[in-house]
Amino acid sequence: MDAVPIPDAYPPDRKRKKKAVTTSFLKTQPAPRFSFHDLGPDSGSFLEDVIRGLARGRKELPPKYFYDERGCALFDAICELPEYYPTRTEIGMMQARAAEMARHLGPGCVLIEYGSGSGRKTRLLLEKLRPIAYVPVDIACTQLRDSAGRVAREFPDLAVIAVCADYSRPLALPGLEGIAARRRVVYFPGSTIGNFTPGEAVRFLGNARALTGEGGGLLIGVDLKKDPSRLHAAYNDAQGVTAEFNLNLLTRINRELGANFDLSAFRHQAFYNAELGRIEMHLSCVRGQRVDIAGNRFDFRAGDTVHTENSYKYTVAEFQEVGRSAGFVPLECWTDPDLLFSVHYMTVSN
Ligand code: AVI
Repeated sequence: MDAVPIPDAYPPDRKRKKKAVTTSFLKTQPAPRFSFHDLGPDSGSFLEDVIRGLARGRKELPPKYFYDERGCALFDAICELPEYYPTRTEIGMMQARAAEMARHLGPGCVLIEYGSGSGRKTRLLLEKLRPIAYVPVDIACTQLRDSAGRVAREFPDLAVIAVCADYSRPLALPGLEGIAARRRVVYFPGSTIGNFTPGEAVRFLGNARALTGEGGGLLIGVDLKKDPSRLHAAYNDAQGVTAEFNLNLLTRINRELGANFDLSAFRHQAFYNAELGRIEMHLSCVRGQRVDIAGNRFDFRAGDTVHTENSYKYTVAEFQEVGRSAGFVPLECWTDPDLLFSVHYMTVSN
């Protein structure tokens, strides 16, 4: 399969984590096997994307713009909410199954993580897998440098090769020359794959397949289809954090693009679209208003909505089919006892 660029559907800089608590030892020790490569990712134009999205018959905004500093903090808060089960369920699965997963990936592998990889899931996997190199790839350079540096100090024997790049696009990874790996494995936790449409997901995984090459693998977290009431609660939490996360997109547009959205005229809306198997998030306009953004005028009528995010849910079989379409062979799938979340391991078909 050819390597193909993917549209703006994923959160490239969502991994701005709270500063990790490290000991002074870890802060001051050099990281002898750490390298950083900046491939100069083009983060695209916020203004152009906003204008294009709002000019459509069905107004939409790309979800990747949720993740400014406030958006990242709100997303971290979402992950701790009682209703938002995916993060804690996936962490629980890694605690219980990382050793087994590591056996599947095998010794001598290079682990390529999409995202900054400063999280608990990564550490749980690294502890059990002990790969010969760890390659976090992220578009947000500063966060990547910090988080990858921390991993390098915590795992001093591990070669950490951080690559600042847009992983939704075809990639050639630098820094791997001279590393004799048995296989390359892409690790993509967090069910972020659900923020792509299934077609985009196939193209995205096709790019991952091209990156890992023959004998390569993919370890990926995928949220499962389930009782819609559970999904509804996860995206309509009682404390209103998800609503704030959604509305923060308009705050960001006001601040960074000089727009004049009246936030009090918009409501958070999230519902499960059973036909398409996805949670849809929208900002619903309750009062008409005219909004100016850098000389462009947009009229909103009461009842209009701006579609801000999709979060696709899959059965195990459905996601295996996505993997097959991208050229992978599903080998193993782990689920939690309540069947909320899945982690798939797939290898590249020859
Ligand atoms: C990043 N992504 C996997 C989250 C999700 O569940 O689709 C983003 C999110 N949106 C609202 N809550 C969380």
